[in-house]
Amino acid sequence: MAQPALFKPFNVRNLTLPNRIVIAPMCQYSAENGCMTDWHLIHLGQLALSGAALLTIEATAVLPEGRITYADVGLWNDETEAAMGRVLESIRRWSDMPIGIQLSHAGRKASTLVPWTGSGQYSPEDPHGWETEAPSGIPFADGYFAPMDLNLDGLRRVRDAFAASAVRAARLGLGFIQLHAAHGYLLHQFLSPLSNRRDDEYGGSLENRMRFPLEVFDAVRAAFPADKAVTMRVSATDWVEGGWDAEQTIEFATRLEAHGCDAIHVSSGGLHPAQQIPIGPSYQVPLARAVKAAVSIPIVAVGLITEFEQAEAIISTGDADLIALARGILYDPHWPWHAAAELGGQVHAPNQYLRSQPRQYKDLFITEPR
Ligand SMILES: Cc1cc2nc3c(=O)[nH]c(=O)nc-3n(C[C@H](O)[C@H](O)[C@H](O)COP(=O)(O)O)c2cc1C
Repeated sequence: MAQPALFKPFNVRNLTLPNRIVIAPMCQYSAENGCMTDWHLIHLGQLALSGAALLTIEATAVLPEGRITYADVGLWNDETEAAMGRVLESIRRWSDMPIGIQLSHAGRKASTLVPWTGSGQYSPEDPHGWETEAPSGIPFADGYFAPMDLNLDGLRRVRDAFAASAVRAARLGLGFIQLHAAHGYLLHQFLSPLSNRRDDEYGGSLENRMRFPLEVFDAVRAAFPADKAVTMRVSATDWVEGGWDAEQTIEFATRLEAHGCDAIHVSSGGLHPAQQIPIGPSYQVPLARAVKAAVSIPIVAVGLITEFEQAEAIISTGDADLIALARGILYDPHWPWHAAAELGGQVHAPNQYLRSQPRQYKDLFITEPR
């Protein structure tokens, strides 16, 4: 049987990936004062045994006020760094899957409730809430609080915080950084004309709206080891008339490539409550394909990719270089094993689990040490 496209190796800067399956960042709302807990060891630990090529740590706040919720992970001081270090040390003892991190600032969408406790935003007076910051003082939605608009000192503080977290990520030996410019969080808030109404050099024209995200990219690129990848996650459209769209995303992607970005992860939406998303299997893949046509750096597709043949088709037709899984791999943490079995590929499994290989898939597991 020919080697399936989904199980062909691929390189992103210095990362050698055995297949095309990456684990998307997923907030767990289980941190304490920004510090990872045992939950993260259990959760990331099981995903590190999944046979995927890469694991991305959830949206990790570069400043306390940049957390989506009070229970988010952070990487802004020695305590948060040490807590993440403990989790990584344990996982690395048993898995050599490359692990990267999504660095994030939630902007006006910070200070929200943990999703399973409700929806909406805490008031700044609530013990679990705080005052938020954004490009402009426009609340996300009815019932949300107006953020403070960031002045030039504030922009410097946020940019420097991204760079400082990148230094901490490097010290932790993380394999790559993904900057979060998607889903309506701070960097996306700068890009979209719906959330950025500034009249200085950071607002107005597309050039000006891209300025702060590109400055953050440059600062992080300079702070992270040159041989390691720095990538960007974007929302390719707001799905709102007059908002950020595919055309602007393509311009942004071209600029990112020129600034040395190593890959672009193409998601969508999250900026505006009026979004009309044509939700369905592979619904964001056409956006990934459009960005891929405009640049030569690797492109990651994500969003309702759940079936093995569906993933294989995305890679084999060249719509994207990699596919990312979120809900699908929570539901089936051995999704890559099952995909390899179905498609005729091979995956790494921990030695402790080798005896689980079903008889009909006798070459499923790669047994030589990595
Ligand atoms: C539990 C959960 C947490 C998530 N947290 C993040 C996050 O931290 N950062 C991010 O960019 N996207 C986050 N997402 C979005 C996913 O990364 C992904 O883009 C989305 O779920 C669509 O992919 P899927 O259909 O494979 O789930 C999260 C999704 C889920 C289900």
